[in-house]
Amino acid sequence: MVSTSSTNVVIAPSILSADTGRLADEIGAVERAGADWIHVDVMDGGFVPNITFGPPIVAAVRAATACVIDVHLMIEPADPHLAAFVEAGADIVTVHAEACRHLDRTLCAIRELGARAGVALNPATPVAVIQHVLDRCDLVLVMTVNPGFGGQRYIPAVEPKLAELRALIGDRPIHLEVDGGITPATARAAIAAGADVLVAGSAVFGTPDRRAAIAALRAAGGGPAP
Ligand code: DX5
Ligand code: ZN
Repeated sequence: MVSTSSTNVVIAPSILSADTGRLADEIGAVERAGADWIHVDVMDGGFVPNITFGPPIVAAVRAATACVIDVHLMIEPADPHLAAFVEAGADIVTVHAEACRHLDRTLCAIRELGARAGVALNPATPVAVIQHVLDRCDLVLVMTVNPGFGGQRYIPAVEPKLAELRALIGDRPIHLEVDGGITPATARAAIAAGADVLVAGSAVFGTPDRRAAIAALRAAGGGPAP
């Protein structure tokens, strides 16, 4: 079972805010600084108004780290690209509920490829849309900004969805991840509402002391203080 203990919060720096010209070094730095997962934001310029990384970047991340690789697909359609991301080294592949017409099928396909399956919800999307696919999921990602860019402001109105999902998940081994505008202060509120995985882009890569940044996020969950 996945622990919901706040001291066991997972820290997942997002390479969206890393210096991509020095990607391997940047990943090595956050791994040494205590990162648990590396979050890779894949954007298609259609589902979201920005274009970022494809499978070759995931392969480069795989070569640079032993951390879990957490791939967040903000692409529509997702199905034709799932295998390429898993083959490139993704451990977790998360799709958006809003971008998948046959979400149950897509989540099953991710697991059949050998990865863990995640589903993401935009701020405006209600929890009910994933209620009946929860047993197909290893992770639920609750967007705390509108997806597309790093460095946006956290939307506190999303927090009731975290509490609702935490109750729905019960003792199932499903992670509850928050993504967007996460700082030590917003992390505290998100963890209190039920989150156990923190994605952080600018809060980690935007500061030179990555160890202090990660420790401050971990401390927000009741872990050791920086
Ligand atoms: C936004 C991405 C996030 C982004 C978070 O669409 O999904 O993962 O990198 O960046 P910060 O932590 O700067 O809000
Ligand atoms: Zn993300």
